[in-house]
Amino acid sequence: MTKIGIDKIGLALPNYVLDLKDLAAARGIDPNKYTIGLMQEAMAITPVTQDIVTLGAQAAAQILTEEDKATIDMVIVGTETGIDQSKATAVYIHGLLGIQPFARAIELKEACYSAAAGLEFARNHIANRPEAKVLVIASDIAKYGLNSGGEPTQGAGAVAMLVSANPRILELNWDNVYQTRDVMDFWRPNYSPYPKVDGRFSTEQYTDCLQTTFEHYRLQSGKELDDFAAVCLHIPFAKQGLKGLRALQPSPKHEERFFEAIRYNQQVGNIYTGSLFLSLLSLLEQSKALKAGDDILLYSYGSGAVCELFSARLVSGYRDQLMTDRFEQMSKRQRLSMEQYEELFFETIPIDEMGNSPELPEDNSPFVLTKIENHQRIYHKH
Ligand code: HMG
Repeated sequence: MTKIGIDKIGLALPNYVLDLKDLAAARGIDPNKYTIGLMQEAMAITPVTQDIVTLGAQAAAQILTEEDKATIDMVIVGTETGIDQSKATAVYIHGLLGIQPFARAIELKEACYSAAAGLEFARNHIANRPEAKVLVIASDIAKYGLNSGGEPTQGAGAVAMLVSANPRILELNWDNVYQTRDVMDFWRPNYSPYPKVDGRFSTEQYTDCLQTTFEHYRLQSGKELDDFAAVCLHIPFAKQGLKGLRALQPSPKHEERFFEAIRYNQQVGNIYTGSLFLSLLSLLEQSKALKAGDDILLYSYGSGAVCELFSARLVSGYRDQLMTDRFEQMSKRQRLSMEQYEELFFETIPIDEMGNSPELPEDNSPFVLTKIENHQRIYHKH
């Protein structure tokens, strides 16, 4: 059987960051609640010139060669921060990146879960066309609103994965199991800029879905937790992932790997569809204990709720495809004051009756939203 999986991983984070100690001070909350209680340090903040298109394109541009762009025949974007009810984000990104025209471009939605489905769709596509490559992007901006319960768990960013035959990072194993249950733990009605959340209920659903799906996975696959060198989970905030992992009665090695797998997430916050893959990237780039041939179990959870468990095997030489200076890159982000955060993150674009916005502020990022003209979002590539 053809080996299919993740050949490259790209990451885009906005240039701004809020330290959660600053948020705690402003909200009159003990900072330990955020740093120990939620196990989070900081959250990535976008200005109005950045959205899921610019972040997604930036993450993908980081990894794609001209040869890749000539070979990709499907672009899948998983997101729950859609910018249009009709046109897919993937179409904008396909255009901005200059991917060959005879490709499919679609957007998938199911809260934080959809990019995991995208990965499996990519694998199935390549199983039929081994010469093809599929670009899977998870791009989101998690905004809960000022003074909301979820405020310390906000974040923004995108992860791009190039899926191909004979991948150089991870080979996807054919062992996916899923669960769907119709619950109202977190959702966002069309008329609302922020999600509605039943916070405690959502944390219970996350863990119960994990436990029950893992039981199903064991029966289906015959594998036990000990068969895995590491477990990567959706990380809405790091403590949630730890509670989920502990519900599976992990070994000390799994807990050690877990702490390597949350390092990026702790500095970024929840990036919804990308959170699981940000954690995977953190594990792969930060762990010295992993080696080729090791299997990693992945848990994707999207409120509403759909979850999936699947595994992947590390390929020989995988480290050559990764970066070693991710923290140095993150340290270049501008730390915002509370005043700047409240202004920047919650700014909305004014649009006149003709559907035009003013020119938006300067932004040197690789891809930028410059204005809205005649109701059309205008992007610029630097
Ligand atoms: P809360 O009510 O503000 O916090 O909201 P809490 O009272 O539950 O405290 C949180 C933790 O801090 C607790 O730890 C406290 O004990 C501890 P735990 O007992 O759970 O281990 N704590 C302290 N620790 C040290 N020093 C202190 C201190 N004070 C308290 N002084 C909640 C927490 C998660 C509900 C809130 O942040 C929220 O609503 N977040 C958004 C929803 C969410 O992230 N849910 C996660 C599961 S659902 C999911 O993952 C899907 C999602 O990504 C969306 C999607 O799929 O699209 C969210």
